[in-house]
Amino acid sequence: MKFIVNASSYYKNVSVDFKEVTEYYSLLNNEEKRFVGNKNIFQTKDAMLGIIERYSISNKSILSLGSGEAFEEYWFHKSNCRLVLNDIDQNNTFKEYLKSISEDKIDIPLVYHTCDASNILKGEYKHSFDVLYVSGFHPDEVRRENISANHIRNSSFLKQIFNRQWPENEQPYLETLVDAIQTVKKNGIAIFQHYRGGIDLLSNPNYLALAKKQFKKVGAEILEIYIFKESLGQSLVVLYVGEHNDAIKYAKMLKGKTKITTFHGRYPYKSIRTNVVRVFNILDPKPFFYKINDISSVISYLNLRSYNYLLNIKRLIRIILNWLKIR
Ligand SMILES: C[S@@+](CC[C@H](N)C(=O)[O-])C[C@H]1O[C@@H](n2cnc3c(N)ncnc32)[C@H](O)[C@@H]1O
Repeated sequence: MKFIVNASSYYKNVSVDFKEVTEYYSLLNNEEKRFVGNKNIFQTKDAMLGIIERYSISNKSILSLGSGEAFEEYWFHKSNCRLVLNDIDQNNTFKEYLKSISEDKIDIPLVYHTCDASNILKGEYKHSFDVLYVSGFHPDEVRRENISANHIRNSSFLKQIFNRQWPENEQPYLETLVDAIQTVKKNGIAIFQHYRGGIDLLSNPNYLALAKKQFKKVGAEILEIYIFKESLGQSLVVLYVGEHNDAIKYAKMLKGKTKITTFHGRYPYKSIRTNVVRVFNILDPKPFFYKINDISSVISYLNLRSYNYLLNIKRLIRIILNWLKIR
């Protein structure tokens, strides 16, 4: 079903004017009165504002798939973006809520499709959006997790030790998400935030190469990828939809922009979710850890402040192995 409702009604009762954590906890007592919870909105604030700032996402049109209650997308709404949201809505809670606000006067429309994401990608929305935003799209994440688990199960002991998680010729992304890129206008961007079933890019360079190939087929380039240094499965993948040369120009422009210092704001440990490193940059397309001569990157990756010596030794071995493979 397709609902067109008033964006402010959808986010009614959301309050983000609190600055102190104590104030935020006092607001939690009223949480049941809201459809989109303040807690999630509060937690995702810094991460989403960082993304909005870096990729200049204000006054834009956004498509989000598997958006759930759309608390991260609230921040796009706050930056004057127009939202088209989607969720399969298995428990019919979204439909119920959307119906309850459907009589409200519409100032800024918010479109919500309650259906399988693949149903809305053809026709109506071809090349319509400035930004595609997808965070933790369940069918995509679970597919990746299963493929990887199977691959590890059937791999040699040595490959398991070196964390080879991805088969040589398997597509990294679910077709629905690749199709979804075609809803983005030329020179727009697509953002995929992953937090389940993540692949360690350092140990699986084939995964990155396959993802690039998959995106290239629909005219998109990976601009940059960020991961949590201490939890390699979480990643933020940012694509440019358009020609390679334009992607390079865009990436050069990003040099002057605010850096990404956090993402996935709901990750429970602040020390981990703010310890972010960029592992791919289109301007320097070999991931940094392949360059053992780039001492500062290697040191930053090894995280010498950590007392987890075993983890660091494993990472050092991976850096050396990858470096040998690339040369
Ligand atoms: C892990 S949640 C992510 C929600 C939100 N994007 C976030 O980052 O918190 C996955 C969401 O995908 C939705 N979903 C699962 N399968 C879907 C499908 N085939 N089409 C659209 N949404 C789907 C689920 O209902 C759920 O809300």
